[in-house]
Amino acid sequence: MKKSFAQSRSVWMDTTEAALESALTERISADVCVVGAGIAGMTTAYFLAREGKSVVVLDDGPIGGGMTARTTAHLVNALDDRYFELERLHGEEGARLAAESHTAAINAIEAIVKQEAIRCEFERLDGYLFVPPRDSQKILDDELAAVHRAGLTNIEKVERVPWDSYDTGPALRFPRQAQFHPLKYLAGLAKAIKEQGGRVYTQTHATEIEGGKKARIDTKGGGVVNAGAVVVATNTPVNDLIAIHTKQAPYQTYVIGARIPKGSIKRALYWDTPDPYHYIRIETVGRGAAAYDVLIVGGEDHKTGQQDDANKRFSALERWTRRRFPMIEGIEYRWSGEVMEPIDGLAFIGRNPMDAKNVFIATGDSGNGMTHGTIAGILLTDLIMGRKNSWESIYEPSRMTLRALPEFARENLNVAMQYKDLVVAGDVDSVEEIKPGVGAVISRGLNKVAVYRDPKGEIHERSAVCRHLGCIVNWNTLENTWDCPCHGSRYDALGKVIQGPANSDLAEEKSDGEQSTDSKQQSAGTS
Ligand SMILES: Cc1cc2nc3c(=O)[nH]c(=O)nc-3n(C[C@H](O)[C@H](O)[C@H](O)COP(=O)(O)OP(=O)(O)OC[C@H]3O[C@@H](n4cnc5c(N)ncnc54)[C@H](O)[C@@H]3O)c2cc1C
Ligand code: FES
Repeated sequence: MKKSFAQSRSVWMDTTEAALESALTERISADVCVVGAGIAGMTTAYFLAREGKSVVVLDDGPIGGGMTARTTAHLVNALDDRYFELERLHGEEGARLAAESHTAAINAIEAIVKQEAIRCEFERLDGYLFVPPRDSQKILDDELAAVHRAGLTNIEKVERVPWDSYDTGPALRFPRQAQFHPLKYLAGLAKAIKEQGGRVYTQTHATEIEGGKKARIDTKGGGVVNAGAVVVATNTPVNDLIAIHTKQAPYQTYVIGARIPKGSIKRALYWDTPDPYHYIRIETVGRGAAAYDVLIVGGEDHKTGQQDDANKRFSALERWTRRRFPMIEGIEYRWSGEVMEPIDGLAFIGRNPMDAKNVFIATGDSGNGMTHGTIAGILLTDLIMGRKNSWESIYEPSRMTLRALPEFARENLNVAMQYKDLVVAGDVDSVEEIKPGVGAVISRGLNKVAVYRDPKGEIHERSAVCRHLGCIVNWNTLENTWDCPCHGSRYDALGKVIQGPANSDLAEEKSDGEQSTDSKQQSAGTS
């Protein structure tokens, strides 16, 4: 895969080949250019291609090399942020539309899998929501009442989750949830897009995105796309400087995959209710007599770039899991990824605020990005085709939900606090203190320098100033990346940008410590 997350590999990355296409090197045109080949971009391209639009997809990695490779792929209308909370923020009708759209997204995935004959292990199953030991059941009762008001009347309270090894006490059972293998699904979408005449280019980084009558997307290798509309599906928009990034917050979340005897835990989706919560599913790996189950358990989230203690978090996940599932035979996978948490619980899907009318975004997925990404495909296709869609207002990117103002203030105060790193001392005093394979920020005069010593001992220096809005990046030991604590931009060890909102690499560091002039500002088209 594109990303240099060597020690952090998901079960999906391990069970599929990286899906590479050729890079774009020429000037081409299309009705719609989609930037980003994750679930949001590929689903949008698929629906548009089916409408007869000529579509071009660009991605700077392989297909699905972003967060879609790191998901746990629960396909649910049992939403992270609780329906009683969505009701408080968006009203009863808003919560109803959220339930309707996520249910429709699961149905749409099922229909695509069938229509395109995609072998991606799509499976309908139950989901169970339970509370931690000794916690009050009130949250379950409140949620049950709210989901019924939202139209999900088939949800019921049951005595316990169907585990023999651990009694959770009462739980809510959500029927007709689903799961799949996300990268196999995207491979199927890519095939279908190309069969409809769509073009998919990988290893193609979009550097400038400009809307308007003849929208234009410039790429690093010199290729250019002119399009009637642009969809920026880069997980977090690289074409938006401020509007969206003050309304969503980046969190790093952790996952382990434990080998268990096949069939020893009932196949279903499971979640508990603390913040951060645990999320659990089962994936079968291998075939025939060699097949076994992997119990996938995630949680232990923290704000991106604000902690560097992945081993502690994996250990906590392992302890939690072993206590409940003594049949574990060993831990086979450990990985992490980033989730964009919208302050009011719903994704931002629609026209990019303060931009030309033909530039669209999909972001703010929270832990429901598989369905939010699919909703993006349905909703953005309607908007581009000029059709009305009743979900438009709840996902409108320019909305400001007044009842979410305390969350807005809390997250943005947290961001403001990160700017203190501009003036405090670096992580170490000198380059000599940095061990092979490790990075650290050092102060050099007024500048902060991100210094990485590669395993051979060679030193690589870049400016530690994030290319988005100037926070100081921090080293991530698990993934060998530089992570920005403000809005979640991430760079590889050598400073190459791998996750927005920044869209350009960390600036080169001149030997006198001056940042090179040609790289002082973000090069993405920004609104
Ligand atoms: C550990 C974890 C568990 C999760 N579990 C679930 C779950 O169980 N259920 C669920 O619904 N959601 C879950 N999520 C969330 C979900 O995985 C994501 O929200 C979803 O995959 C995001 O899809 P996307 O298409 O928006 O972004 P991505 O998959 O990240 O795709 C964006 C693409 O844009 C490309 N790109 C970025 N910038 C550029 C550029 N300038 N030029 C060209 N290409 C560019 C990237 O290379 C990338 O391929 C989880 C997330 C994580 C991290
Ligand atoms: S991501 Fe916004 S300043 Fe780094």
